[in-house]
Amino acid sequence: MVAFWPREPGLTEAFFEFVSECEPPEIDTIAVTAGPGLEPALWVGINFAKALALLWNKPLVAVNHMEGHILSALASQQGDTLAIKGVTLPVLALLISGGHTELVLMKEWLEYKLVGQTRDDAVGEAFDKVARMLALPYPGGPEISKLAEQVRAEYDQTAEFGSGNTPPGPRLPRPMIDSNTCDFSFAGLKTAVLYLLKDRPELSSEEKKHLAHEFENAVTDVLWKKTSQALDETGARTLVIGGGVSANTHIRRVFTEKMKSEYPHVALRIPAASLTTDNAIMIALAGFYRAIRDDFSTSESITANGNRSLA
Ligand code: KG4
Ligand code: ZN
Repeated sequence: MVAFWPREPGLTEAFFEFVSECEPPEIDTIAVTAGPGLEPALWVGINFAKALALLWNKPLVAVNHMEGHILSALASQQGDTLAIKGVTLPVLALLISGGHTELVLMKEWLEYKLVGQTRDDAVGEAFDKVARMLALPYPGGPEISKLAEQVRAEYDQTAEFGSGNTPPGPRLPRPMIDSNTCDFSFAGLKTAVLYLLKDRPELSSEEKKHLAHEFENAVTDVLWKKTSQALDETGARTLVIGGGVSANTHIRRVFTEKMKSEYPHVALRIPAASLTTDNAIMIALAGFYRAIRDDFSTSESITANGNRSLA
C-alpha cells in the first residue's frame, strides 16, 4: 500500500486510519479524473482512487474531465437525483474553462468530434490574467463579472452591443471574429488590455469597471459568433455550455436570449450554477455513463494523461 504514496508515508498512515473508521459507502464503482489537467495533480487523485478500489473491492473508471463538464451540463435535477433526459442529438458543446476553450460535436452518444478550439489562451485564463492586471483577486472571472454587471445596471442593456446607451470607456478587439473557422484566440485580447494599461497604469475604479465590462463584452461577442457558426455548420439540435466560465452571468444571459431569437429550434442546456466550476458530481456522472458501457480500467492500466482529448 505504501507504493501508492512512496514519498508520503505519513499520508498512507492517515489514509488507513481514516478509511478504517469509515463505513464503506454504498457504491458500485470509483470514478476518477484521468485528464486533461496537471499530471502530478491527476496522479494524486488516481492513487487515492486505486487505494480505495483495492480496499473496498470496487472497479475503477477513468473519466475525461471535459466529458464531466458536458454531461453535468446536460443533466437536470429530478427530485433528489441528477438525470440526463430528453437530449436530442447531435449535441454541440461549448466548453469554456481555465484550461480549455473548444467546440465539440457529439453526433452519437459519447462520441466526439472537435469543431473548433483556442489557438492560444483559454477563455478562463484570459479572464484570470486580465483580472490580475486589474489587481483583482483569483479566480478573476467572477470578479470581472461583478464589475461588468455594475456597469450594465447603470446603462440600458436591452440595446444590442454597440448601439443604444453605450457606456464610455475603451474599445477592445474581437480576435478572429470574422475568420472563417470555428477556432478562437484570446491572447490578443489580453495583450490589448496590457497595452491599454501601459498608457494608463493608475486606473480609477470607474475606469476599471468600464474595462472589465468591455472585456466581458468582447469575449461574449467572440464566443457567440463562433458558436453560431458551429451551429450552422453542424446542424446541431442541442447546444450545451460547460466549464467554469459558463457560470458567467452575462454569457448565460446573452446565449439564452440569442438562442431563443435566432435558433428557436435548437435546445439550450446550461448547467445549474452549482455545477459550473469543477466538482465531484460531474466526474461521478461521467463515470456512471462510462461504467454502464463497461468502460472500466484496472489499477495497472489507469494513467494520468495531461493532454487527454475527447475527440
Ligand atoms: O472548469 P473550471 O472550474 O476549471 C478548469 O477546468 O479550468 O474553470 C475555472 C475557470 C477560471 O478561469 C475562472 O476564472 C472561470 O472558470 N470562472 C469564470 C466565472 N466563474 C469561474 N469566468 C467568468 N465568469 C465567471 N462568473
Ligand atoms: Zn473544469
